[in-house]
Amino acid sequence: MSARPIRWLVVLLGAALLLGASAARADDRGDDKALFRRGAELWPQYCGGCHKARPGGERSAAEWDTIMLHMRTIANLPADNASAIHAFLRSH
Ligand code: HEC
Repeated sequence: MSARPIRWLVVLLGAALLLGASAARADDRGDDKALFRRGAELWPQYCGGCHKARPGGERSAAEWDTIMLHMRTIANLPADNASAIHAFLRSH
């Protein structure tokens, strides 16, 4: 038995990983709008639970960075939902 088939397998796996990585990058680039839309949907659901859902225009983008760190913990937000809401609030 030669080691060749294994080497090919490694090459193919590497190619698959590279393809997967570039597909994920393309998603990131094209999906700013999708992230915003998801944030707009999630924001009243999550952020209106304990107090009035504060509108994005109420704070600066930098303030939202800090607030989201705090509210994300309080609201126990999963990371992807938190970044969607964050993108939505920041864009006002
Ligand atoms: C589990 C309840 C809870 C959830 C969910 C929650 N908050 Fe809060 N929030 C609080 C409490 C309590 C305070 C005030 C005390 C503090 O700062 O811990 C507060 C304070 C704030 C403040 C600053 C003080 C003010 O009244 O203006 C902002 C802004 C805010 N929250 C935004 C958000 C956003 C955005 C979300 C959604 C990601 C969110 N909150 C989700 C409980 C919550």
